[in-house]
Amino acid sequence: MRFPPGFRFGMATSAYQIEGAFDVGGKAPSIWDTFTALPGTVRHGEDGRVAIDHYHRYAEDVEHIAAAGVRDYRFSISWTRALADPGFYDRLVDALLAAGVRPVPTLYHWDLPQDLEDQGGWLNRDTAYRLADYAGVVVRRLGDRVRDWITMNEMNVQTLYGYALTDHAPARGLGLEALPVAHHQLLAHGLAVQALRAGDAGAVGIANQHFPVYPASDDPADAFAAELFRGLTNWTFSDPILLGDYPDEMIRAGVGTSGAQLDRDLELIAAPLDFYGVNFYEPTAIEAPRAGKDYSGVLEVDIPEGLPFSPVPVKSDERTDFGWAIVPGALTEILVALRDRYPGLPPVIVTENGASFHDAAPDPSGRVRDPRRIAYLDAHLRAVEAAIDSGVRVDGFYVWSAFDNFEWAAGYDERFGLVHVDRETLARTRKDSWYWYRDLIAAHHTSG
Ligand code: NOJ
Repeated sequence: MRFPPGFRFGMATSAYQIEGAFDVGGKAPSIWDTFTALPGTVRHGEDGRVAIDHYHRYAEDVEHIAAAGVRDYRFSISWTRALADPGFYDRLVDALLAAGVRPVPTLYHWDLPQDLEDQGGWLNRDTAYRLADYAGVVVRRLGDRVRDWITMNEMNVQTLYGYALTDHAPARGLGLEALPVAHHQLLAHGLAVQALRAGDAGAVGIANQHFPVYPASDDPADAFAAELFRGLTNWTFSDPILLGDYPDEMIRAGVGTSGAQLDRDLELIAAPLDFYGVNFYEPTAIEAPRAGKDYSGVLEVDIPEGLPFSPVPVKSDERTDFGWAIVPGALTEILVALRDRYPGLPPVIVTENGASFHDAAPDPSGRVRDPRRIAYLDAHLRAVEAAIDSGVRVDGFYVWSAFDNFEWAAGYDERFGLVHVDRETLARTRKDSWYWYRDLIAAHHTSG
């Protein structure tokens, strides 16, 4: 594989998934603290109160990151921790810089302060302004050392799983009534860009999840359903940023803001970015719901009845242990599609890509063999290379994730890490994939 000189190899994590220390230093609860405390929300009733205790073990964790030779480390800042106990992020950033790793914080990775949720959460326009205030506080504190910033993570997943369905916090189950959540997060992004620029940020981007959506058959009804789903889950979250408008009338009418206010919002949302982050895992197949067909149990998430589309499993010979289809070509496809759709697309960074396999504990010699993760990452990096060869400018690739961590509603069974974390002792062990990634990065530097 060959990547352009200066290609930004990295690793990614998020605060709630790794930090633990859920109430240390006066940290107030987020919606994930609340959600995970409710019975039946997370597999085995697990939660992120301790997670992998990164809050206390960050110094060792920075060593695992830096020793792999990555240039960038993407982590997220916990909103409620940053307000109560910002010193943690000073220590983390200083440790990263001392180790020669560039910190790339995400302001918002789904952990909304519970007190804002109590005031309506992302259904309340005011939440966007509160996020901008918080962005200002953080950039004033860290902006002397942090140059690269990501505003929001996967707004589509928070909207869909958290507000339209009930699989993630805050589990509102509003169906299509959740569309204002999309608009308010986009507005929060636009306001955060403004706050970060005012704080003299070096480079600002966003991390949006994208994936090809395939119609389940040649039936025009399936093509129509797929188009609708693609609009709602992909373009709704990128068109306003990169084209300054929603993908269609139906969606524009549903976001709950209109007229001159919507025009002003869209102008703010479309402010130029320095890079565009793409999180990719798997493509989706969609069909128009067939009368009488039972969709329960088809996917892990329950899709409410009455929606005009239904996800069905993608045909694929290979799956991760999480059940996700392995289709590396879909990453090339979506990168090319983004380039074609958006003439002004900024340089792309793949801000997340990786796979969960249920790796065995370290063997007596301390080795964790994870050949399928290596194969997954190898194939997806080749897919990025193919996109670059097709003329898409891709400046970096971050592996999800540096460490095994709390995989939201799936708890700790799903292991995405390059570094294994023992659930009892929290001991860290570098997996074979960690060594493979280190060697790949070193080879790039030697040849580049
Ligand atoms: C996307 C999310 O940003 C991250 O938090 C999650 O763990 C991975 N995908 C894997 O599901």
